[in-house]
Amino acid sequence: MPVAIITGASKGLGRALAQGLAARGWNLVLDARGPDRLAEAAVLVSAHATRVTALPGDVTDPAHRAELVAAAWRLGGVDLVVHNASALGAEPLVRLEELPLEGLRRALEVNLVAALGLVQEALPMLRTAEAGAVLVVSSDAAAEAYPAWGGYGASKAALDQLAAVLAVEEPGLRVWAVDPGDMETDLYAAAVPDDDGPRPDPAGVVPAFVRLLDERPASGRYGPPALLEGER
Ligand SMILES: NC(=O)c1ccc[n+]([C@@H]2O[C@H](COP(=O)([O-])OP(=O)(O)OC[C@H]3O[C@@H](n4cnc5c(N)ncnc54)[C@H](OP(=O)(O)O)[C@@H]3O)[C@@H](O)[C@H]2O)c1
Repeated sequence: MPVAIITGASKGLGRALAQGLAARGWNLVLDARGPDRLAEAAVLVSAHATRVTALPGDVTDPAHRAELVAAAWRLGGVDLVVHNASALGAEPLVRLEELPLEGLRRALEVNLVAALGLVQEALPMLRTAEAGAVLVVSSDAAAEAYPAWGGYGASKAALDQLAAVLAVEEPGLRVWAVDPGDMETDLYAAAVPDDDGPRPDPAGVVPAFVRLLDERPASGRYGPPALLEGER
């Protein structure tokens, strides 16, 4: 059975993806800071009878990242790292003139630095996996200039570039940056509390992620329509 590490798996997209992968027979290592919600998610995901290890912690903590990889090793190795945990930098989002620099640093630490830290920790096992892959969750804010999304968007743009360079440096792996599109989650509500327009449930995008993992298209950046149509 392949093994995936999924960060930010206690709710939203991370939890939905964990359920989707468990249903396909993946063994999983799941992380999030809040232990109670993570434990609840692990119970849900375990319904598929695969092996699930839930480790509460902050992805910015190097010791926690090492624990995640060690747990995956105990399940048999690391076939896939999904860096999904994310910080906005300010909640609600604010224009750049008001963005606290500490918030920007936090967004960069969670969204970017922790992603590389986790990949560095997992690389020896990813390289020996039969079909090693890294999937980082990006955003259209990485590519479009939306007012108030500047700090978060900059961190995701940097994450996209990091993934692109990693793909070139590690041709034996697949490295995908995936924009899942807007979803109804706590992160979106925290970003824009006044926007109560209907948005899709994160479970709706999971089949596209599963298809990506099944078909293993070339490394690169994928957005929601292309993801479903299998085009870049
Ligand atoms: N929602 C959207 O419309 C949308 C659109 C484009 C891209 N995205 C991206 O999709 C991904 C998933 O977001 P979501 O909307 O599903 O958010 P969400 O429902 O708020 O879930 C975020 C998850 O990350 C965990 N997390 C946050 N900070 C963490 C940290 N420092 N260490 C470990 N875990 C952490 C959270 O749990 P704890 O708080 O307990 O740690 C939670 O499990 C993110 O990368 C986001 O940028 C979302």
